[in-house]
Amino acid sequence: MSYRSIAIDGPSGAGKSTLAKRLSQELGFLYVDTGAIYRTVGLAARARGIDPADPSAVAELLPALTITMGYGEDGLQHMFLDGADVTEAIRRNEVSAAASKAAAVPAVRDFLLEMQRRAAREHDVIMDGRDIGTVVLPQADLKIFLTAAPEARAERRFRELLERGQQADYDQVLAEVVERDRRDTQRETAPLRRAEDAVTADTTSLDLEGSFQLLLGLIRERLGPLEGGGR
Ligand code: DC
Repeated sequence: MSYRSIAIDGPSGAGKSTLAKRLSQELGFLYVDTGAIYRTVGLAARARGIDPADPSAVAELLPALTITMGYGEDGLQHMFLDGADVTEAIRRNEVSAAASKAAAVPAVRDFLLEMQRRAAREHDVIMDGRDIGTVVLPQADLKIFLTAAPEARAERRFRELLERGQQADYDQVLAEVVERDRRDTQRETAPLRRAEDAVTADTTSLDLEGSFQLLLGLIRERLGPLEGGGR
């Protein structure tokens, strides 16, 4: 039996992971958060005192790492680094920057490619990232390029930080969003770009529910009615 795959790419803060997670529950597909895999490499580099932007140092580190992905009873993806569950640790702010730098190293992308493709060979997947439609799953049944204006994405991130009780400065958050976009779109290897056959979904003026309904509509239109898996 062949499995179905939905690729969602786009800049950080567009709502990819929140929406992909909810859609996966609605459709009974496995949600694969590929950013979490890059974050695990970023975390590993930091933990070993290696500059994540140094291609040869990072390439040397890779063979010594055991990175695995697992799914808990809640159906949510957990990341393991050398056997330790790092699902929480990879969400720290400093890991975001390290992941973005490590993701620009070609050896890192090659190292992680097979792990991502294997998930799609073994399950129906909704996979989100930056190069899923262009590199990882060029044959995906549906490719969505999910985007929103930088100011809208910064505003969402700013509010999220405040809700978590963290201090935040909107202008700084916006500057970080713009810088991460620059790095993710301008790197030489697998830069963030829209696949030619992707459908663009712009969520600038939509709330979460509106964005969810938009994507669900696109999926049903392309893949037909799908059973809810209640994962
Ligand atoms: O989506 P995220 O913020 O968790 O991703 C972390 C970093 O990894 C981000 O800077 C972009 C990079 N990334 C990538 O280059 N390719 C992917 N498929 C997923 C993430």
